[in-house]
Order: sequence, then structure tokens, then C-alpha cells
Amino acid sequence: MSSVLGIVGSARPWGNSEVLVRQALRGAEFEGAATSLLRLPTLHLEPCTGCMRCVIGGRPCPLDDDMRWLIDTIQAADGLVLAAPTYFLGPAAVVKLVLDRLLMVTGQLDQDLPPPRPAITVATAGLESWRGMTLPYLNALVGAFGYQPIDSVTAIAPGPGEILLDTALMERLQAAGLHLAQGQLSRTPAAANICPTCHSDAFAIYGDRMVCPICGRSASLHVHDGGIELSFETDTGSKQRWTPEGLREHMVDWVVATGPRYLSLRQEIKDRRRPLRQMAAEWLCPPSSAGRTGRR
Ligand SMILES: Cc1cc2nc3c(=O)[nH]c(=O)nc-3n(C[C@H](O)[C@H](O)[C@H](O)COP(=O)(O)O)c2cc1C
Repeated sequence: MSSVLGIVGSARPWGNSEVLVRQALRGAEFEGAATSLLRLPTLHLEPCTGCMRCVIGGRPCPLDDDMRWLIDTIQAADGLVLAAPTYFLGPAAVVKLVLDRLLMVTGQLDQDLPPPRPAITVATAGLESWRGMTLPYLNALVGAFGYQPIDSVTAIAPGPGEILLDTALMERLQAAGLHLAQGQLSRTPAAANICPTCHSDAFAIYGDRMVCPICGRSASLHVHDGGIELSFETDTGSKQRWTPEGLREHMVDWVVATGPRYLSLRQEIKDRRRPLRQMAAEWLCPPSSAGRTGRR
């Protein structure tokens, strides 16, 4: 029997993210999957401090929180359903906090890479024109863990649970959950002019190419009488940025390589910061921070 994990990125009980995760899990249960749920905002997750110990030293993360448990739980599942709300044009902060800690996963350079497994990603938002960049970030997150999104959607519903009134979407999520439990990896195609990898619809212009800022997939732009068309480069599979393979390559070729380079420059950096150390400016702290330790 396959195990399917549902991750809710919203603190709202019975909010739209929870309803849609449950609906996909319900589809998976019809297929005999063992299902479980977790709510990200109830976990104890600390922000990454950028110490780089997990990558450059290959040592465990020094933060004592639930992140290691979360990583192990995500890696142990056969299928994943992730839904999170849009807060001010991006995913709720807890999702970014998890993304920020991904050096812990990608820094495990000596470990076997996970097999591809299916995922469903759902961004919830109140207003179509304010949906921002939530869905591409959710696709990046599941991709980093070796999951391939088989269905990705932005669900528009402002009030908690209001998405239950969208019968077509509820049916879509249930069907997607069923396919997930069957281990299907084929993906619902993205709409025209949407990045097929991460579903971003924002692009940067590099020379004559349009490049997805989230996953790096590029496209050429064609102007027709009837509008514009983006032709995306063919899927480069494991070369994509948000795959365990792509991230490992980035770790080895760039992140780890910055270590010796930085060490060779350290003295010069210290010398150049001397005038900044002698400034009059003082750190401000709120009264509530009295007694709190840590460098400022
Ligand atoms: C603090 C906050 C910020 C929000 N920002 C956006 C936004 O930028 N764009 C948008 O479309 N909806 C925004 N919304 C609406 C939520 O994304 C929407 O209600 C969503 O369905 C909530 O999902 P949930 O019920 O799973 O929490 C915001 C809601 C809150 C509470």
C-alpha cells in the first residue's frame, strides 16, 4: 500500500488549503493509500542562519527544531499533496522558511538521490489577479525532495472553506489524488505561456530569451497577429534547477566551491570592513528582547 502525505501550509483550520489537501487524500484513500496530514504552522521551525555547516562541513544542522523530522517525513512518503495560501503575492512565510532550510537536503551529497514520486501542489488565493508567485514556489519545494507535480493548480477562494463550492475543482483534486496513489507520474499540461516546469507566469528577459526566474527554464518569444507565444526549450529533466540532481550539481559546482574561494579572500574582507565597524550607529532592539542573546 502506498503512503500519501498531505501538507497544509495554512494555519486556518478547515481553510481552503486543508479542504483541498483532504480532498486529494480522499481520492488516494479510494485507491487504498495510507494517508496522513501535517500542518506546517504548528511545527517548530527556525529560520536558517546561513552558517553553511550542513553543506560545507557536511555536519547536522545546529538548529534544534522539527526540520529534520519534517525532511524525513517528506522523504518517507510515496506521494505528496502540498497546499498553501498566498499571502501578499507569495506563499505564506512558513513555506519560504522550509525552502530556506533546503541546504539540509541538498547538502547530503554522499547520499542516494530519491526516486521520482508524484505530488499535487495547490496554491490558494483570494483573487486571480493577486495570485502572485505561490504555485511556482510550491513546485520548487516538492521538486527539491524528488517529487514530480502531476497536477498543480491555483484555487481562488477568499473565505475559509469556500473552495468547497467549486465542484469542478473538488472533483479535479479527488481524481488527482487517485492518480497519485496509483503512482502515476504523467502531468496535467500547463496552459499556454506558463512555465511547464514550475507553472510560473513571470519571466525575466535575458537577451532574446524569456527565462523562468524560479526554475530557470527558458523560452523563445514569437509575436503573431493574434498575440504572443512562448516556445519553451525541451524538458531537460534532471538538469532542472529544482530537482535533487539539479540542486546537487549546484551544490558541488558552485556552493561548495565558494568555501575555499571565500577563505582566500577573508583577510581582505576583514580589512575592508574596518571603517564600517567604527561607525557610530547602534543596533536598536525592542524592550521585549531584554536578556535575549545572539549577535546583532
Ligand atoms: C495575510 C493575508 C494575505 C493575503 N494575501 C493575498 C494575496 O496577496 N493574494 C491573494 O490572491 N490572496 C491573498 N490572501 C487571501 C488568501 O490567499 C485566501 O483567502 C486563501 O484562500 C487562504 O487559504 P487558506 O484558507 O488555506 O488559509 C491573503 C490572506 C491573508 C490572510
